[in-house]
Amino acid sequence: MLNIILLGPPGAGKGTQAARLQAKRGMIQLSTGDMLREAVAAGTPVGLEAKTVMERGELVSDAIVSALIGERLDAAADKGAIFDGFPRTRAQAEALDALLTERGRSLDHVIELAVDEDELVRRIVGRYSCAQCGEGYHDQFKQPRVPGTCDKCGSHEFKRRKDDNEDTVRTRMAEYRAKTAPILPLYEARGIVSRVDGMAPIDQVTDAIDAVLASG
Ligand code: AP5
Ligand code: MG
Ligand code: ZN
Repeated sequence: MLNIILLGPPGAGKGTQAARLQAKRGMIQLSTGDMLREAVAAGTPVGLEAKTVMERGELVSDAIVSALIGERLDAAADKGAIFDGFPRTRAQAEALDALLTERGRSLDHVIELAVDEDELVRRIVGRYSCAQCGEGYHDQFKQPRVPGTCDKCGSHEFKRRKDDNEDTVRTRMAEYRAKTAPILPLYEARGIVSRVDGMAPIDQVTDAIDAVLASG
């Protein structure tokens, strides 16, 4: 039962690759960004608190996201976990260690998606998804096979994230550099970090991740 972290700035491809791992390996994708967006859409107390913070591109509190991860880990007790967008701070990294240890689990790999920031802005600003099933698309890189129709579920409704504009993306990048990149050395010291070229085509990134996971 593998437990892995996909680490990288906004737009690095964490969600894209996590969805593939989930489909292929029966692992569970644990995306704090997705959980928070669900909470915002449902208007829960967590959602109300997170909404404006997310629209600014800043980080939601460590306590909130750590609690969300804890709940979902319990629901995924017998499956490998893919942490997507968590941890993002040193406090979250420590919280994750504790959550895993309490459940008799441990981290196997931290996969760093290495990318170029300007290219990422282009990726993010062009991104959209199916309003029905969540399948991801991109204005330039991945249009539906039949224009205006979701490849997966046939829906004609699509949506864009509110924080996917250039200004907010720059703030999200700055948050990554200041608070998230500094947790890498923690995992490097444990010898569990693998660096993958996140600028390669999507299939090649998937192959590179498979190779890391096959290494044990
Ligand atoms: P979150 O939802 O995690 O967003 P993010 O980290 O900013 O990352 P993205 O989801 O934008 O990018 P991704 O790496 O998943 O890339 P994707 O696969 O979509 O967080 C949003 C907000 O929630 C945060 O700003 C914060 O406010 C809050 N939050 C979340 N977690 C938190 C935490 N732990 N603590 C505190 N606050 C938290 O790919 C992007 C696009 O590129 C897609 O269109 C895709 O099709 C395309 N693409 C992907 N790979 C490739 C490739 N290899 N080549 C070409 N195109 C590609
Ligand atoms: Mg994502
Ligand atoms: Zn769909």
